[in-house]
Amino acid sequence: MAIPCKNLIAGGWVDAAAAETFESINPARFQEVVAVVPRSRETDVDRAVGAARKALPGWRLTPAPRRGEILFRAAELLLQQKQTLGRLVTREMGKVLEEALGDVQEAIDMAYYMAGEGRRLSGETVPSELPDKDAKSVRVPVGVFAVITPWNFPVAIPGWKTFAALICGNTVVFKPSSFTSLCGERFARALQNAGLPPGVLNLVHGTGEDVGEHLVNHPGVDGVSFTGSWGVGHEVAQACARGHKAFTTEMGGKNAIIVLDDADLHLAVEGIVWGAFGTSGQRCTATSRLVVQEGIHDRLVARLREATAALKLGNGLDPGTQVGPLINETQLNRVLDYIRIGKEEGARLVLGGHRYSEGDCRLGYFVEPTMFVGVTPGMRIAREEIFGPVLSVIRVRDLDEAIQVVNDSDYGLSSAIYTRDVNATARAERDLDTGIVYINASTIGAEIQLPFGGTRRTGFGPREAGGRGGALDLYSKWKVIYRDFSGRLQRAQIDKGAIAAVTTGESG
Ligand code: UN1
Repeated sequence: MAIPCKNLIAGGWVDAAAAETFESINPARFQEVVAVVPRSRETDVDRAVGAARKALPGWRLTPAPRRGEILFRAAELLLQQKQTLGRLVTREMGKVLEEALGDVQEAIDMAYYMAGEGRRLSGETVPSELPDKDAKSVRVPVGVFAVITPWNFPVAIPGWKTFAALICGNTVVFKPSSFTSLCGERFARALQNAGLPPGVLNLVHGTGEDVGEHLVNHPGVDGVSFTGSWGVGHEVAQACARGHKAFTTEMGGKNAIIVLDDADLHLAVEGIVWGAFGTSGQRCTATSRLVVQEGIHDRLVARLREATAALKLGNGLDPGTQVGPLINETQLNRVLDYIRIGKEEGARLVLGGHRYSEGDCRLGYFVEPTMFVGVTPGMRIAREEIFGPVLSVIRVRDLDEAIQVVNDSDYGLSSAIYTRDVNATARAERDLDTGIVYINASTIGAEIQLPFGGTRRTGFGPREAGGRGGALDLYSKWKVIYRDFSGRLQRAQIDKGAIAAVTTGESG
């Protein structure tokens, strides 16, 4: 039964002004409508931004530990609903239940983490160069934040952004991906039920064209946090620069695992299969390139073929399913297109390569886990983000060449190396130019307490997740306070003040 979604504006669950709707469907069974969603437009965005502006003065002045208590309650509510919400993530987004539960858990982790930040949020207190004067920096909210999230982590990524924005004292207008509207709404409901005052979090359903664009350009929005494609993120960044808004854009990846000759083969195979085909390759952190030293190449490819061929595709709610569907027809066609391109470029397809439509899977957007060997670094399948279960294997002579191949990319989110050589791990750690580097672990699975993001086209602006050096730097700005309690004019850089008075014996 399809569930009707609502927008959340000023604490009330409402339809879009124009009363139009669209559907979100189950990608494993596309005739199953999961939710009927309001198609919001500019008027709805205007109302939501208005509500967020109105709620800002009260929320800004709510002590951060009190804000943290609400986030703590949201974490507890999400934890109670973890199974139900996880099942919804599988139905609306397609990832297998175990991963869907992980998606919800990531939001819970972030809620607890940011709840704790409510009692830190620290700045610095430093000595002034003048007597009877103090100097400190404090974090203050940016204002109204637009939070625009993708479908691939429909609860975790709203969690990263929203909890960090709220703890810092911002109010939020949240636009979830139109493909995972109900997950976005359930997330917002948990926050609302945890006791957020009206207008502090608002939700507007709809597409990027109808809602996202207006939201990003809205004069009432002070900051934008966007995760999605490079094309859209690039536009968002430019709009924010023009509008003098704080922003961050988290975009693509073309993540690589290096395997050296001395690697633990079993460990590497497990990590590669998990990184490349987990979430059907639909993570920005997914392993998309495998850069293998020549001595281990053939053995590794043989073991990978075996392990990958054994993966069970299907509906993520069915026990035993390891690989779910792609999110929609556009992504399905895009992935199949890249498989065709790979073949045309002369890469050798050794596994998969087709839409998968056995049994019930004919009613979903499934693609076989696919592996190309003989890929060269210049090929499009080695350079462009595919966002599907396609792995390109590149053979290299040694570590130097491996690092050079990994770094020669438009993207720089995550990379990994499998080796038993401690010196090689140190060089990889130092020289891989990506935001995240894994040693003897796959490219996926970043934890929320550290900054998440990457180099080059992967992202622009402060990092998401983490605390200092991460999300807190995005969702707050610095204010510096000097307080002079000397009762006279003291000029920094000019007056020497009391020290001179003591050493020279002069006064004033
Ligand atoms: C994403 O794909 O945009 O590191 C986020 C990971 C997850 C987050 C992925 N914790 O794979």
